Amino acid sequence: KNGFFTYDPGFMSTASCESQITFIDGGKGVLLHRGYPIDQLAEHSDYLETCYLLLKGELPNQEQKQHFVQAVKDSSEVASSVANLIQSFPKEAHPMAVMCSAVAALAAVYNDEIDITKEADRDQTAYRLIGQMPTLAAMTYKHLKGEDFVASNPALDYAANYLNMTFGKSTDDKVSPVLAKAMDRIFLLHADHEQNASTSTVRLSGSSGTNPFAAIAAGISTLWGPAHGGANEAVLNMLEEIGSVDNIDTYVAKAKDKADPFRLMGFGHRVYKNFDPRAKVMKQAADEVLSELGLENDPLLAIAKKLEKIALEDEYFIQKKLYPNVDFYSGIIMKALGIPTEMFTVIFATGRAVGWYAHWDEMVSKPYKIGRPRQLYTGYTQRDYPA
Ligand code: SDX
Repeated sequence: KNGFFTYDPGFMSTASCESQITFIDGGKGVLLHRGYPIDQLAEHSDYLETCYLLLKGELPNQEQKQHFVQAVKDSSEVASSVANLIQSFPKEAHPMAVMCSAVAALAAVYNDEIDITKEADRDQTAYRLIGQMPTLAAMTYKHLKGEDFVASNPALDYAANYLNMTFGKSTDDKVSPVLAKAMDRIFLLHADHEQNASTSTVRLSGSSGTNPFAAIAAGISTLWGPAHGGANEAVLNMLEEIGSVDNIDTYVAKAKDKADPFRLMGFGHRVYKNFDPRAKVMKQAADEVLSELGLENDPLLAIAKKLEKIALEDEYFIQKKLYPNVDFYSGIIMKALGIPTEMFTVIFATGRAVGWYAHWDEMVSKPYKIGRPRQLYTGYTQRDYPA
């Protein structure tokens, strides 16, 4: 009860509330996946092991991990109908538009094979989604670049396989372990984040009993926006527009001017009113990757670090509790990996697919009701049509 309306657990507690997957304490900058802190997972785990944790609630033993990794590899091939759909799009299409369509098309490919009341069907759907997201992402990139697709290579680990399908010229190309580790950590850091806008979309959409791939496609649509997952692309565009550390003060002033709609991309968060723990890990990864690639003097990194320092010491940002979020440094790493800015949110969606799915699976694996958020009506009370 908050004075406006009573809290009705009936409609809130199914599609959009109760969960055991991820815990966030926005005031303390805490992010736990099934109880494990994100920085410990980023240091000791890898993306597929974290996928298993998010889906099953416990870290896998060696045998469980091998079975899960193999099941994902075995499910990573994309149907020719979906490959043809990707190739039907104009080269100037935004890759997120292609990904929305391609993932929704998986509902057409597998619809007759999914009984969402059966755990085995839900597990197989998870393998297909996690296995095919990088393949779809790579196909999208290759098509928009006008290059031939490179097939998935089961001999490569998940992130290395994605990099090879995207940037390789043949299935057997070599992939730098440094780049593969950085890519895997980016997927891991984006895996889940409680009930953000896109995850809430997936849960609400899924609460009608729709096909899980269709619900995930709805999540991709939501993530695309610059206020959400599209921010990583916006951060790079902003850093490039700032162009020099000498221009930072001008942009900080713009961001503080209420009359100016400009906001510092990569800063602020709906929940974190302290630092975003993912941003700390991402900043460390950016330092490591760029120095390993000999790019430690990357001008964009210099602008990002100076901008962060100025913002963290600025009274406005302190008072508004605005800190760098997950998107602030991720784009710098992805740029160093050779990924074009328009693909940044596709990478975010590829990593987040498991989080969306874990929330959907958690909801449909026990009795649930369709979500029905209510509004706060501020319109006319009843009135009669003029005689
Ligand atoms: C993600 O929810 C999740 O978990 C999302 C996510 C995930 O993993 O799924 O973490 C991923 O979406 C991260 C956020 C990425 N977006 C950006 O980096 C875009 C830039 N940031 C903002 O647009 C903004 O901070 C939001 C959208 C993230 C939050 O906006 P809110 O809800 O308006 O933030 P707020 O209520 O905390 O704002 C407090 C004040 C406001 O000013 P007043 O109305 O009090 O005068 O701070 C201002 C805001 O206008 N403000 C900013 C700002 N963000 C908020 N001012 C300048 N620059 C900013 N970036």
